[in-house]
Amino acid sequence: MPSIDLSKYPQPRIRHHTNPQVYLPLRQLHIVPPNYPPLIEHIEWQRLFQDGRPPAVLDIGCGMGRFLIEYALGNPERNILGVEVRKPAVEWIGTVIRGEHIVNAAVLWYSVANGLPFIESESLDAVTYFFPDPWFKKRHAKRRAFAPALVEELYRILQPGGALYLMTDVPEVDMYQRMLLAEHGGFDIVEVTSEELWFPQRTDQELFCLSKGIPYVRLRCAKRQRIQCSDPRFPDESSA
Ligand SMILES: C[S@@+](CC[C@H](N)C(=O)[O-])C[C@H]1O[C@@H](n2cnc3c(N)ncnc32)[C@H](O)[C@@H]1O
Repeated sequence: MPSIDLSKYPQPRIRHHTNPQVYLPLRQLHIVPPNYPPLIEHIEWQRLFQDGRPPAVLDIGCGMGRFLIEYALGNPERNILGVEVRKPAVEWIGTVIRGEHIVNAAVLWYSVANGLPFIESESLDAVTYFFPDPWFKKRHAKRRAFAPALVEELYRILQPGGALYLMTDVPEVDMYQRMLLAEHGGFDIVEVTSEELWFPQRTDQELFCLSKGIPYVRLRCAKRQRIQCSDPRFPDESSA
């Protein structure tokens, strides 16, 4: 697998969390903090990718971009887009992408709390959402990006047969995500234990878990055809 020496690019000191308001949708805020990532409605893909095509893979909360960069190097024919809410991380990943001339990877400073309106419907093969921040305290739960609206958005942007890939080392987060996916009803969920059925690339958090012997769960959630859903939080697109 092609790889690069990331130590060539000194990493800035980056705080684990940023301003708590960036985890909430902009429309819910009365005052917009100066470091809130810009909303994005539309993207001309030729500005981001050399071949001008839209991404095949979206990496949500890509952190310092290890998976994003290594996936791009290992799959030069596919575009991968990362979204990340911490601006210094995005700037650092951009430095690596430019420094290594990686033409099929791009990263946006963006909060997925605002949905993904700039991703075309049924356009992605895969969405990865690896080791989300757990936000354990009940009063912080609203900062979790994985919410019914995002699940519906993920269903919209995945191609039929595409899949959402999840990893977490927090059992409570795993249960919460499985519950929302089950309520949505649009995904077939399989727990993946075999290396052959998973990506060969690793994330930073995954490497940390492996180094400390911390167990984590991997799920492949394949998009299935829309079924009738009686939950009002997931309105049927056909009746809209
Ligand atoms: C625990 S880190 C995991 C990073 C990486 N996926 C990994 O596995 O190493 C979670 C990441 O999600 C990002 N994040 C949290 N909420 C987000 C949001 N609303 N929009 C975009 N990124 C977000 C955080 O800034 C952080 O980098």
